[in-house]
Amino acid sequence: AAVKGFWTTCPSFSTFYFLFAIFVVSTIFHCHQRLALVPAPWAYSAHVVLAPRHLPREGLFTINSKGRLGNQMGEYATLYALAKMNGRPAFIPVQMHSTLAPIFRITLPVLHSATASRIPWQNYHLNNWMEEKYRHIPGRYVRLTGYPCSWTFYHHLRHEILQEFTLHDHVREEAQKFLRGLQAKWAGQATFVGVHVRRGDYVHVMPRVWKGVLADRGYLQRALDWFRARCRLPVFVVTSDDMAWCRDSINNSVGDVVFAGNGLQGSPAKDFALLTQCNHTIITVGTFGVWAAYLAGGDTVYLAKFTLPNSPFNMVFRPQAVFLPEWVGIAA
Ligand SMILES: *[C@@H]1O[C@H](CO)[C@@H](O)[C@H](O)[C@H]1NC(C)=O
Ligand SMILES: *[C@@H]1O[C@H](CO)[C@@H](O)[C@H](O)[C@H]1NC(C)=O
Repeated sequence: AAVKGFWTTCPSFSTFYFLFAIFVVSTIFHCHQRLALVPAPWAYSAHVVLAPRHLPREGLFTINSKGRLGNQMGEYATLYALAKMNGRPAFIPVQMHSTLAPIFRITLPVLHSATASRIPWQNYHLNNWMEEKYRHIPGRYVRLTGYPCSWTFYHHLRHEILQEFTLHDHVREEAQKFLRGLQAKWAGQATFVGVHVRRGDYVHVMPRVWKGVLADRGYLQRALDWFRARCRLPVFVVTSDDMAWCRDSINNSVGDVVFAGNGLQGSPAKDFALLTQCNHTIITVGTFGVWAAYLAGGDTVYLAKFTLPNSPFNMVFRPQAVFLPEWVGIAA
């Protein structure tokens, strides 16, 4: 009877199986949830690190994912170049993958946010220009911070950077289709000049915070005329976050201006792809235009001297570190 009493106070086998089944189901559920945290675009293949034990022992570099498309491209390229210079593997945050992977064939592996949150990061602030000390960045798990977008970090690797920012075929094909449509109207003789007019929040931020100006009618007239004087049949393909202003402000008496962008900040891929597929570029302010010009690779005209000498913008921005030496500045 004593033995029987012992057995009845212990859980039966069926209870044991029941608990085991709960354990298995909850483990599967938990893993599934963690995978679900990686947003949809990881349909674009990427090597995703899910567990800290899979991290490289020699440490790694990552970078903050701040700002919109142009900023994140600058952050990606800077991480790529500095990690290589320091002999460390580079991993990008999930948010950066979500921004860039739907447009470009980027290759850097992704650090899952649950893993990233368990790493003892050392933050390392970057100015927006290369410095000698960045060749020897101390620390094992380094998170670069700031808004770097300067060719001085990565121009020596431009072939690799251009490779990383190669458009997906369907994105490129859509832009090419549009340009082929235009080319038919100009009997195959047109030279395409992409024009990016950035306004949006800059309309307020530039004069108030940065003591500067935006591109105006005068600048755009001079920039278009610069190409009209040098190309036989230029066709200007305008994209902007303020198309209404562009239609009012860009003089199209010659009939060589096409207002093309959809102007949606939420889906900048189309405008960006279109600009990179043009032969030359005219830009105003912002990293979006700078990157479009860098990838298009033709002649580039940019807005120069757009801030006052006492502007706080001059503390964080060196024109010679952002605009390539061969680009042509037209003063505001
Ligand atoms: C418009 O552009 C044409 C050609 O560049 C120029 O001759 C004309 O003066 C311009 N008109 C205005 C109002 O700027
Ligand atoms: C200009 O751009 C168009 C569209 O991308 C391209 O088909 C053409 O080959 C380019 N022309 C030159 C001279 O690069």
